[in-house]
Amino acid sequence: MLPEPSADLTNIPAGRRLHEAAKLRPCVNLISPRPEFQTMIQNHNTEKIDLEWNDDDVVPAVVYPNLDFLFQQMLRLTLKEVAAGHGELILDVGCGRAIDGAQLCEKGAQVVGLEPSRVMLVRAKEYLSQSSSRVALAQGIGENLPFKPHSFDKVMCKGALDHFLSPDKTMEEIARVLKPQGEMIISIANFNSLGFRLGKRLYPVTKFLSPSLAKERKPWELPPDHKYKFDYPLLGSLVKQHFEVKKAKGISLFFGLPAWGSLLSRLPHSVSYALLKTLDRLARPFPSLADVVLMKCIPVDEPK
Ligand SMILES: C[S@@+](CC[C@H](N)C(=O)[O-])C[C@H]1O[C@@H](n2cnc3c(N)ncnc32)[C@H](O)[C@@H]1O
Repeated sequence: MLPEPSADLTNIPAGRRLHEAAKLRPCVNLISPRPEFQTMIQNHNTEKIDLEWNDDDVVPAVVYPNLDFLFQQMLRLTLKEVAAGHGELILDVGCGRAIDGAQLCEKGAQVVGLEPSRVMLVRAKEYLSQSSSRVALAQGIGENLPFKPHSFDKVMCKGALDHFLSPDKTMEEIARVLKPQGEMIISIANFNSLGFRLGKRLYPVTKFLSPSLAKERKPWELPPDHKYKFDYPLLGSLVKQHFEVKKAKGISLFFGLPAWGSLLSRLPHSVSYALLKTLDRLARPFPSLADVVLMKCIPVDEPK
């Protein structure tokens, strides 16, 4: 049985209901794990949720092998960590097109995909109509989950938390809707990765060799649709308010290193893949250096 939403959000809303969603409770009473979080929240708490967000710009026009590999590994390892069991009830917060949720359904789980964007909900519905997986879609935000306490066996949030207005309010909400023995699995880009650190250091040289780069957004800068730049310590301090970290892993290495992607694209596929695989394995014990941080957490009874 799927948990009953506490608001009428189970179906893709008609235009009028979007206005209701836009008025979702503002994030108040925030417990800040680190002072900069409080500042970031203060800077952003008047913003509206982007109910028209779409993923048209997520994949660039040219996809180099390192980005393709990164996306695939992030998906594979996140789903592996979720380890969906038959009949388990799983919530995917910020589900986008619900592609990941559909894969969890194939393992026998019952999945709810939560998403604020009307555009993404339409895309998710389109995607699911071509698939045999049945993901229940709900419009809502992580900061105010429309579910009863202790509803879910697992909650996953992949590549999304840095888009949220209030990641710490979201943690509180995920802890609330998880069953006491439940698990939260998060994967998120690391903006203090080794690749980005080296990229920044080498930037003056890169810019000298390729002046047109100066006009482009640097990979380590905040993308326009992101609210935060996460890194491993920040994610750790965020989750520890409500969770104990059971596992932390790194995924992929050296994304953002100048010319790395174009170099890989000139190599035979087997060679570039072997290189990326090796670096990815090296990254596993070093989430603070890796391109993506993957964490599995369990709720603690009382906030620390
Ligand atoms: C980069 S997409 C990731 C989608 C999906 N998880 C994936 O990995 O393909 C980020 C998603 O988070 C959603 N989002 C933004 N703010 C949110 C919030 N406050 N609560 C829940 N989802 C949110 C966006 O609409 C978007 O679909």
